[in-house]
Amino acid sequence: MTEVNETLLVTTPTTGVCLLTLNRPKALNALSSPVLNQLADCLDTLAGDESVHAVVITGGPRVFAAGADLKEMASMDAVDLLNDPRPTLWERIYRFPKPLIAAVNGFALGAGCELALVSDIVIAGTNARFGQPEVNLGLMPGAGGTQRLIRAVGKSVAMKMVLAGEFLDGRQAVEAGLAAELSQPELTIERAISLAARIARQPALAVRQAKEALLHAFESHLADGMKFERKAFCVLGASEDRNEGIAAFLEKRKPVFKGK
Ligand code: CAA
Repeated sequence: MTEVNETLLVTTPTTGVCLLTLNRPKALNALSSPVLNQLADCLDTLAGDESVHAVVITGGPRVFAAGADLKEMASMDAVDLLNDPRPTLWERIYRFPKPLIAAVNGFALGAGCELALVSDIVIAGTNARFGQPEVNLGLMPGAGGTQRLIRAVGKSVAMKMVLAGEFLDGRQAVEAGLAAELSQPELTIERAISLAARIARQPALAVRQAKEALLHAFESHLADGMKFERKAFCVLGASEDRNEGIAAFLEKRKPVFKGK
């Protein structure tokens, strides 16, 4: 599939992997409501596309995404913000059931950082700049930048980023746990695609259940999370791929997974 529209480019760089590229360079990939809508719609479509097993999202070489669209936000009052459908769009993005990998070069600020935070894995270029600088504008993060960030990097680093508006570069983001890997900027997307391709070759049911259980850890207390993990683990007992995976290991051959 190769689809080009104004603000989101959709391509298939390799089997099983879809690459989404934010493409609003003049507004530094600001995540306006139309862009978020497009992204949520696109992920909904990809969720139902059996040929897609993992998705990479990226921006430009200098800017991943510079935040919510401040031109759009400027005219919104408290009532507009309360009625804003954006939280629902974010929830749809977060609930995408397949692995979502962010390949981040340059600025990932405000909602851009929050987009990295709703991704499952982040590959950071050495030139990446992650930040929640809303406080500089008299705002605060509004799409998970206080809740998900603190779970990703811990209290002290999150407080520094949100209260002082200081950025983390790619290396600091890896050290803090916000990103999984550091990459040379020119290789960030390539590395994210190769990781996505590796995941795409794994048995899809196991990947899906494992992702759901891992996300549950973010949202629940330990005892509840442990129960959820066990349930997901047991559900896989009904999957053909599980039996094939174990049999292939014991028979010293390569497994043939069918996604069943
Ligand atoms: N929304 C709308 N337009 C934006 C934008 C944004 N978030 N960020 C940049 N732009 C626009 C600028 O207005 C400018 O447009 P014009 O050419 O029409 O003047 C253009 O993009 C280029 O911007 P700069 O000249 O500022 O570019 P720079 O290279 O000097 O600086 C930057 C880059 C450091 C990313 C700087 O643009 C910046 O600080 N942007 C704002 C970052 C920010 O505060 N993000 C948080 C937004 S609020 C939020 O996201 C809330 C939430 O949690 C939900």
